Amino acid sequence: MFVKYVILMSMAVFGIMLYLHDYHLSSFSQLFTIYPQLHSTLIDLYGTVVFKWFDSGYSRVPRKSKDVLFTKEELQEYSESNKGLYLAILGKVYDVGKGEKFYASGGNYHFFTGRDGSRAFITGDFTDSGLTDDVTGLTVKELINLHEWAQYYHKEYKYKGKVIGRYYDDEGQPTSYYHQVKKLINKAKRTKEEQDKEKLSYPPCNAEWSLESGSRVWCSTRSGGIERDWIGVPRQLYDPGSHTYRCICIRENETDGPNKKGNIKEYPECNPKSTSCWVHS
Ligand code: HEM
Repeated sequence: MFVKYVILMSMAVFGIMLYLHDYHLSSFSQLFTIYPQLHSTLIDLYGTVVFKWFDSGYSRVPRKSKDVLFTKEELQEYSESNKGLYLAILGKVYDVGKGEKFYASGGNYHFFTGRDGSRAFITGDFTDSGLTDDVTGLTVKELINLHEWAQYYHKEYKYKGKVIGRYYDDEGQPTSYYHQVKKLINKAKRTKEEQDKEKLSYPPCNAEWSLESGSRVWCSTRSGGIERDWIGVPRQLYDPGSHTYRCICIRENETDGPNKKGNIKEYPECNPKSTSCWVHS
């Protein structure tokens, strides 16, 4: 900082000397006479550049990020309707004033205001310790859920800035914690996309059970919530993750999927061409 100070001081002295002597430097003074605006513009520019550089060592106002930054204490002030109702999720602050019926004092979700209570969106633990921004230990599925909440706020409410702390540093840059969470969410999203894709190729069966008759699985053009123009036949798909089998529908002429070799088997005692099977467990 000392070096910066000395350089700036020298520049300032040089600037003043230049200013005092510019009438003796014929080329400068002629230029300024022709373009009077240029003189003030140059002085403004000098001032702005020097000030910005000097200031950047001290100021909390972010230089790298254009976002407004909130300390936890500053955010806490926004839990009263007269000041404004803000909440944060995964380190991002939103103005939830238009949802006053939920968030104003007395509203069912007032406890979310003035803080980042990300974890509670998943756990439903609305105590002071539950309303934390620490999401360590949440499952991948829960992180996806939380990410969906974050997307909801981004869509529904006005974005106001970032909280300095767990997710963003005091320059508004993402922290390593943020990157870890983001990595997990991205991984979870990819897994979900793969599962959705798999669901399209191998839609789950319909299933019913009764004490008298036992279990039945069957395929239809809407089984597993997947609308399609084929019905398919029930098969058992082995899931190595959970070490269990689940019922899927495959096209009748498809004995085994491209990535599922050996993981799909027929139901015993069920006609392989039948769209419905009684399952004996
Ligand atoms: C983990 C548990 C829960 C969380 C984190 C949660 C969170 C929220 C939040 C933040 C809102 C306001 C959304 C907005 O800003 O638009 C909301 C609204 C609402 N919640 Fe919950 N909630 C939970 C559980 C429940 C349960 C169990 C019920 C029902 C028994 C419920 C019923 C509602 C209703 C009816 C609304 C208002 C919807 C509307 O009028 O648009 N919530 N919830």
